[in-house]
Amino acid sequence: MRNKILSDQRKVFGDFEVVDFVDDAAVAALRGRLDVDVPLDLHWSWEYGSEVEELRNLYERGKKGQWNAEADIDWSLPFPREEWFMPQSGALLLPSILTAMGVDEETCREAAWDEFAHLISQLLHGEQAAMQLCGQLTNACPLMDQKFYAGSQVIDEVRHVEVLSKFLQRKMGTLHPIDPTLKILLDMLLEAPTWKLKTLGMQTLFEGMAVGIFDSIAKATTHPLLRDIIRRVQIDESRHAAFGILSMRQVVRQSSTEEIQEMEDFAFSILEALNANQQLDMLRLLGPKYGLDPENVVQSTLSMPEWPALNSEIFMHTVMPNLMRLGLITERTEADYRRMGMIHGDRFESGHELPIVN
Ligand SMILES: [Fe+2]
Ligand SMILES: [Fe+2]
Repeated sequence: MRNKILSDQRKVFGDFEVVDFVDDAAVAALRGRLDVDVPLDLHWSWEYGSEVEELRNLYERGKKGQWNAEADIDWSLPFPREEWFMPQSGALLLPSILTAMGVDEETCREAAWDEFAHLISQLLHGEQAAMQLCGQLTNACPLMDQKFYAGSQVIDEVRHVEVLSKFLQRKMGTLHPIDPTLKILLDMLLEAPTWKLKTLGMQTLFEGMAVGIFDSIAKATTHPLLRDIIRRVQIDESRHAAFGILSMRQVVRQSSTEEIQEMEDFAFSILEALNANQQLDMLRLLGPKYGLDPENVVQSTLSMPEWPALNSEIFMHTVMPNLMRLGLITERTEADYRRMGMIHGDRFESGHELPIVN
């Protein structure tokens, strides 16, 4: 039986169970939890040569792919608040709804600005978690190839924290605090007891989600500064997701049926909780400013016939194909993923070769 994360924050909308934080004091307490007790194994290795060639190759690619978030980005490009940097509809939730309601363009643009600053803020907080978690992995992973790669990923994640925080500070002027659902889930990954679960959680689940989100921004934006930043981060993130797959492939091969089921359940419960929020954290923060009731927005979104197709896009980009490829989605979880709009369509029919991210 799988445990449902955030069971105290659940409420039922039709046949869908959402995660909705409505207690401001509880949210503030979560954000104030700066010190996290983390169990951490440390393993020495005396094997300095490479044991997993693909991992060492990935490390070499990472070294060649380094860039400088201060010097290589043209920070002189303006990012004006009064110009669209995304399509008015289809890319972000708030401007899409407001446009459909016939709200004036200036208000729609302001909503896009707010929602985007919120999205980049959440990605930034996720980058900080990735930076911390990769530091843990350099200690906890048993192989020198993994330590090399995780160590090199730390500097990549530092650079992502740097570039996204500078973008928010210099171009948007706003930094939103972390969403409560995200804080809970990131803490769970950082607190996970084994390097295997940490690698699965951060490298496969969150890196996979990040690749999907960054790719959707890169495709939607028309702004050269934003496109350049996202493209650079995206290339690094694809490498990180590949590290997750290479490491996890070996882990799964060496695991018992019970351990594999534990990993399958861990992946499902994290992704289910993430999906169950349905942007309610963002809507609680920004909806009222635009006269939108968070619950109404989510209920009407969930009732749209095209909702499963739209909702599954980010999941189907990288996370689901990679989990399927690893054998971590089976008949035990697939139907539930489909029911919750995370898997959609027939892309996972047997015999279909799934792409690996590299
Ligand atoms: Fe990153
Ligand atoms: Fe990453």
